[in-house]
Order: sequence, then C-alpha cells, then structure tokens
Amino acid sequence: MQQIPQEKQLAIIYSAKTVVILSLFFVCCGLIFLSAYFLGTASKSKAKIVELATSSNIAQSGAASAKLTDPGKTWTAPPEEEIPAGASAEAIRYGRELIANTGKYFGPKGKIAAISNGMNCQNCHLNAGTKLYANNYSIFFANYPKKGARSGKTDQVTDRISDCFQRSLNGQMPDRSSKEIQAMIAYFKWVGQGQKKGGKPEGTATEKIPYLNRAADPKKGLLVYRKQCQSCHGEDGAGQKAQDQLTYIYPPLWGENSYNDGAGMYRLSNFAGFVKNNMPYGIDHKSPVLLDEEAWDVAAYVNSRPRPHREQRKDYPDLSKKPIDAPYGPYPDPFPAVQHKYGPFRPIVAYSVQLRSKPGINQAQTRP
Ligand code: HEC
Ligand code: HEC
Repeated sequence: MQQIPQEKQLAIIYSAKTVVILSLFFVCCGLIFLSAYFLGTASKSKAKIVELATSSNIAQSGAASAKLTDPGKTWTAPPEEEIPAGASAEAIRYGRELIANTGKYFGPKGKIAAISNGMNCQNCHLNAGTKLYANNYSIFFANYPKKGARSGKTDQVTDRISDCFQRSLNGQMPDRSSKEIQAMIAYFKWVGQGQKKGGKPEGTATEKIPYLNRAADPKKGLLVYRKQCQSCHGEDGAGQKAQDQLTYIYPPLWGENSYNDGAGMYRLSNFAGFVKNNMPYGIDHKSPVLLDEEAWDVAAYVNSRPRPHREQRKDYPDLSKKPIDAPYGPYPDPFPAVQHKYGPFRPIVAYSVQLRSKPGINQAQTRP
C-alpha cells in the first residue's frame, strides 16, 4: 500500500471535520425551523379553539375568562326617578313590581292567578334585572324578535318571557295581551333604553368562567354548599318563605318549588357564572367569594338534586346550535349525557371545533 504524505493526510482530516461540522450546523438549523413551524401551527389551532369556544353557540361558557371591568362599556340602568310621568310610568312601575314580586301575583297563592312556583323573576334577574353579571335586562328588548336556538324559530319578546315562566318558574305564561305582560314589556323597554340590536354591553347574562380540566364534582360541591349556601337556602334546598307565604326570602334551589330541568339555571355554566359573582347574597363581580372551581362544584351539587322535569326533546332542532352543557340529548357528538351535564367540557369543545371545520357535517346531524 502506498503511503499518503502527511500534509495530504492532515488536509483530508481537516476537510472531513469541516464537512461534519457543516452538516451538524444544517441539521440544527433544520430542527429549529421545523420546531418553530409546528409550535406556530399548534398555537394557531389553540387560538382557534379558544376563539370558537367563546363564540356564542358552541358554548355559552368559554375557555377564556372574561375581563370583568371595562368602564368604557359598562351598562348602568336608568335610575327609577327617571321613569317618565303619565300612563307609561304606571305601566313601567307595575312591570317592575311584577318582576320583583312575581310570587305575590302568580305564585301558588297568587292574587291574579296561581300559575307558577312562587319564585320571583328577580330571584335570578337581580335588582329587577339591573345588576351586572346577574342576568340583567339591558339588551333584551333591543334584541327581539330574534331567531332562537332553543326554539328553532323567530322568538318574539313574549315568547322569551314565556320561556322563563314555563321553565324557571315551572308554570304557565299569563295571557300575552294581559295588562301584566304589557306592563313587564313596558319595563323591559324602559330599562333597556338606548341599547342597539346586536349589542352586547359588558355584564349581560353571566360571566363565562373558564372550564375546569375535570368534571365538576357534586361531592366537593356539597362541602361548598354546607359552608357558603346552606345558612340561607336550607339543608334541603327548599329556601325560606316570607312571612306572608307569598314569596321567598331565600328562594329554593331544588325540590318541587324550584326551576325545572329545562331552565337556563340547570345548565352548569349559567349556574356557576351566576353564583360566582352574586352568591353568597350581597356580593358582586368586583368581590367574588367562591373560586371558579368552587362555583363549578356547587353548581354540580345543586343541579344533581331532584327538581321538576320538563319534556324537552324538541328543544334545539338544529343540534349544531345546542350548547355543549345542555344536559339532555340528542347531541351532534359521541359524548355521553353525563359529560354534557358535568364536564369535562374541553374535549367536547375541541370536538365541536373539528366538526365545524367539516362543511356539511352539521347539516347531517340536524334532526328533521
Ligand atoms: C331560576 C332563575 C330564573 C328565574 C326565576 C327567571 N329567570 Fe329569566 N333567565 C334566567 C337565565 C339563567 C336566563 C339566561 C338563559 C340563557 O341564556 O340560557 C334568563 C333569561 C331571561 C330573558 C332573556 C334575557 C336576554 O337578554 O335575552 C328574559 C326576558 C327573562 N329571562 C325573563 C324572565 C321573567 C319575566 C321571569 C319571571 C317571570 C324570569 N325571567 C325568571 C333565569 C331565571
Ligand atoms: C345570605 C343568604 C344567602 C346565601 C349565603 C346564599 N344565597 Fe343564594 N340567594 C339568596 C337570596 C336572597 C336570593 C334571591 C335574590 C333576590 O331575590 O334578590 C338568592 C338567589 C340564589 C339563586 C337564584 C334563585 C334560585 O333560587 O334558583 C341561586 C342559584 C343561588 N342563590 C345560589 C346560591 C348558592 C350556590 C350559594 C352558596 C354559594 C348561595 N346562593 C348563598 C340568599 C343567599
């Protein structure tokens, strides 16, 4: 074998080294580029999930926590002293009275008719529907008539009022042309004055608190209930009647006089959002007492207790518009009813996002 001169040997070693170093350099660059690309797409699709989760018809409760104080857009109800004089004033005041003391007029011993469970609209629409994050009436009148996801048709103002009489008050709607319903409408119109259709002033409905990574737990909720709720709403959840027996000082949370299972409060996200910013009674969204987790768990406990049932198979005829925490099937996905009721909700949101990106699928899931 011929001996390679030493210089040549060194040159070969050098160029081999350079080749190795250069290829290592390119491999690294490639890896950095690829990981940047994948991280980028991952965070983009994550952003999409968040965006879709907070959009109103997948879920009324989103993955992103709402910012609660935005002074620029905060709604304030017009002060009572500003109710205009004359006949309309009488109607507005009467409407307000009916909302604050509904049980007195329409409860089991109602002065006008015994057609509901004795609760007041105000029990859930606090301060006659003027409080932020407490199901206020700011935007209601301006937004109706409106296509309703639950009814599948165009709902009039009276249809929406009727919904709460039938579900939250587990009863019947008074005659739509009655003085009482017309007075309620006069009040809704007055309280929501200056609002534009399609608007969403800060503090409407309830806070969409972030989903937990687990199912809400009725057992943990019982502990919260004992500590924070029982003193007013009672160990048996039946609340406490006022002395005149017509309305409640502390309204019932379950049992025969409570809202039925077709009511908005029976959806966990609505209950948790309401309770976080309004209970124990006396607090508001600036001073919540419960942690998000406690609000979810106590919601699970209360909504696991018995209450009146409402047949609701005809609700949400377009299943793609059904909120993910609607506790009764059918659903446009394979998740069981128990998961739709208690969570975990994030996998359902992720599935819905996927479903929506395939055109035609939602259509196929719609019932005739
Ligand atoms: C047990 C609690 C509860 C009671 C009592 C109750 N509601 Fe409601 N109401 C709700 C909830 C929760 C919502 C929001 C529902 C949703 O988004 O699914 C709502 C929504 C409404 C809306 C629609 C608001 C909007 O901006 O679109 C109106 C109007 C309404 N209720 C009227 C009434 C009237 C009138 C009464 C009394 C006859 C009443 N409610 C009693 C819980 C209640
Ligand atoms: C200090 C007494 C008090 C405590 C403690 C309290 N609540 Fe209430 N709660 C009330 C009153 C009073 C109302 C009705 C408000 C009104 O009509 O203005 C109410 C209304 C409600 C409502 C809506 C009406 C209904 O009956 O469905 C829910 C839901 C509710 N409370 C849940 C809770 C939960 C959960 C807790 C514990 C975390 C709690 N409350 C703690 C006094 C209390």
